[in-house]
Amino acid sequence: MTAQIQPLFAKRYIIPDMPTADEVLPYLRQIDANLWYSNFGPLVSAFETKFIAQMAKAHPCETPFFAATVTSGYHALSVALRLMGIGSGCKVLIPAVTFPACPLAVQNLGAEAILCDIDPDTWTLTPAIARAAAAQMKLDAIMPVCLYGMAVPSEEWDAFTQETGIPILIDAAAAIETQSYLKHGFVAHSLHATKPFGVGEGGLLVTADEGMISQIRQTTNFGTVNRITQSGGENAKMSEYHAAVALAQLDRWEHVKARRAELVSIYTQELQSAFPLARIHNGLQKSVVCNLMVSVKQGLLPTLLAEIEAQGIATHRTYLPPLTTHPHFSDLCCCDRHGKVIQTPELSDKREHMNACTHLDQTVMGLPFYPQMTNDDATTISRLFCQTLHRMDTST
Ligand SMILES: Cc1ncc(COP(=O)(O)O)c(C=O)c1O
Repeated sequence: MTAQIQPLFAKRYIIPDMPTADEVLPYLRQIDANLWYSNFGPLVSAFETKFIAQMAKAHPCETPFFAATVTSGYHALSVALRLMGIGSGCKVLIPAVTFPACPLAVQNLGAEAILCDIDPDTWTLTPAIARAAAAQMKLDAIMPVCLYGMAVPSEEWDAFTQETGIPILIDAAAAIETQSYLKHGFVAHSLHATKPFGVGEGGLLVTADEGMISQIRQTTNFGTVNRITQSGGENAKMSEYHAAVALAQLDRWEHVKARRAELVSIYTQELQSAFPLARIHNGLQKSVVCNLMVSVKQGLLPTLLAEIEAQGIATHRTYLPPLTTHPHFSDLCCCDRHGKVIQTPELSDKREHMNACTHLDQTVMGLPFYPQMTNDDATTISRLFCQTLHRMDTST
């Protein structure tokens, strides 16, 4: 049987949820009036201010935070690492399950990315793993990642920096509003079209250090101040056109969150009948969901993926398999959850020692999730998924 989901969207697992041309138009008219197109224009500045005001509503606290726009989530990571002094001879600890942007940003600055196993419950690099790794080797920075948009504990990471002196850069690519900010260190967001807060291409860096904002701007503008090069840098400035889309996206942000929450609750409720064969991670229910990931009983995944696809439903494996299996990263130093460096280059040894990453690879898959699907689509997909699982379970 093939699932009866809207044909336009069949076989897609993610569809960007962007503002319409009409919603962006008033901001484009402002660009026409301002005659300012890039280089820290009025729309970029308005977006940065309004964005932080919106986040302060979600995380009321005494510490004020400041945001600087960049061209992408990758550049948010790259600029922050540069400002943390990361370069040749430095080591940065990164979870092995994440997007390639994380180690690439480190490598492209001439530094070494160390891939570590993740915590089996939270699916990410925790302060405990970082402490264990820091006891084995000198680390110059740690990059915890909000996997699938799930927040990491900023207070615990602040405490880690105070205790060890090692700076933190949280890659909160998709975790906008659910991730709280750091008193010490940076939080990076991606505004890629596929993220819940999509602008097309874009990124943000958030810091409690107001003085850092001018340094971020300098770094995103070829390291220059008044056309004189003061430091290393890149061209990573957000244009006024992207800021126009970002302002329009901010106007509809409450709607974006509400629609995603509605769909997550349908999936969560329907997938209850698949328990204990499958479940949605608790952390996803607290996030503005970007990728709807489901954990399934060990041993079922390859057949399940094939059966679901055969029924006309797209599946995906976002951030999987782990980066340790990607040819470009195969030579990187790896460590287990106890900080122990895995000495052999054999992939089978890495799989065995990085067993939480391996478990995720063997048990986690994604289902279609985009606001344009109807509630009935979400119900149909969930029910087909549950029926398929039960059928497979009884036949094994
Ligand atoms: C975890 C993570 N980090 C970084 C990035 C890079 O963001 P961008 O595509 O905006 O450069 C992504 C993009 O998908 C991501 O998922």
